[in-house]
Amino acid sequence: MKKIAVLAGDGIGPEVMAEAIKVLDVAQKRFGFALEYRQADVGGIAIDHHGEALPKSTLAACEAADAILFGSVGGPKWEGLPPAQQPERAALLPLRKHFDLFCNFRPARVFEPLAAACPLRADIVGRGFDILVVRELTSGIYFGQPKGREGSGADERAWDTKVYRRSEIERIAHMAFQAARRRRRKLTSVDKANVLTSMVFWREIVRDVARSYPDVELNHIYIDNATMQLVRDPHQFDVLLCGNMFGDIISDEAAMLTGSMGMLASASLNGGSFGLFEPAGGSAPDIAGKNVANPLAQILSAALMLRYSLGEEEAARAIEGAVEQVLANNIRTRDIAAAGHAPVSTQGMGDAVAVALES
Ligand code: NAD
Ligand code: IPM
Ligand code: MN
Repeated sequence: MKKIAVLAGDGIGPEVMAEAIKVLDVAQKRFGFALEYRQADVGGIAIDHHGEALPKSTLAACEAADAILFGSVGGPKWEGLPPAQQPERAALLPLRKHFDLFCNFRPARVFEPLAAACPLRADIVGRGFDILVVRELTSGIYFGQPKGREGSGADERAWDTKVYRRSEIERIAHMAFQAARRRRRKLTSVDKANVLTSMVFWREIVRDVARSYPDVELNHIYIDNATMQLVRDPHQFDVLLCGNMFGDIISDEAAMLTGSMGMLASASLNGGSFGLFEPAGGSAPDIAGKNVANPLAQILSAALMLRYSLGEEEAARAIEGAVEQVLANNIRTRDIAAAGHAPVSTQGMGDAVAVALES
């Protein structure tokens, strides 16, 4: 029996999480494994119920678990709080740091039936794309010290520090090269080495690590060019290796190329089997509570959990196959619906994937 900490969080989090659990329940029956869910509050809802975004009881549930299935946190209700108490900074970032989840995989590919939902021209998306963004998740400008704010008037100032240690770059580079070996053996490292000292360092170390992977083709690209190339011709990329903030930005762009923010799953790993699995998108306050959110990113994140933390590769593939089948059958939530086709609800999409997985 594997234990899963289920942290649905805020906004659309609980809505899409219910559908992922529905699909996991079918997977358990079909593939003969057993999961024990332990639900816990995180984010804004935890502030409301317990006075803090990451209560000790929630952290304890995560520590006792084999994996964390995470929804999303944050929203307008908590934006007025001091920054350090807000859900994103007080729950999600500490969870990533606490469990040393330095390696974030964000796979973005165009599902053929969804090509029309991609905002790119048909001739560009027609070439297809299948990209893995590998994002460093526990260092860089998100966590570097010092951070601060002081002064007043025109001289008032605030600062963050972007710092990377050799060991931090080495370990994420190894994860990216190993992932490239399981794919098309092409790695593009994204940096800003023409301006930032930390990125000159990044490039040097990625080059050093590359010596252990002579079978993987390595290229370096500046972040500004990378964001442009991604819309000009995403087909050219296989694995994109990024620091924390560039990876955050470029993965939203990659998500939209798949058709919707609601399609992009992610796995945050510690280098071993423990991980946190969450959609790359957020709590989507604009559509929360309406039963219209796309649950596929959450469902596909659950599949990544089966693959990376629970060793259930066959079940993971079956869920991904069920998603493809549902899309091929023209079942769409509002965000990916084709003109003239009535969209299904969040629940309708979860039901469709569950049924496809049963058969
Ligand atoms: P967002 O990703 O929540 O929403 C951006 C856009 O994408 C919105 O139009 C939204 O409706 C759409 N979208 C996102 N997920 C969708 C889905 N599953 N189905 C259909 N449409 C979807 O980003 P935002 O608006 O910048 O942030 C909202 C809140 O979420 C903020 O508080 C932010 O900090 C937080 N956030 C949390 C996480 C997380 O918990 N991992 C990630 C990103 C943002
Ligand atoms: C993401 C989110 C988070 C990030 C926020 C909510 C802290 O945008 O997971 O992409 O910036 O990492
Ligand atoms: Mn983001």
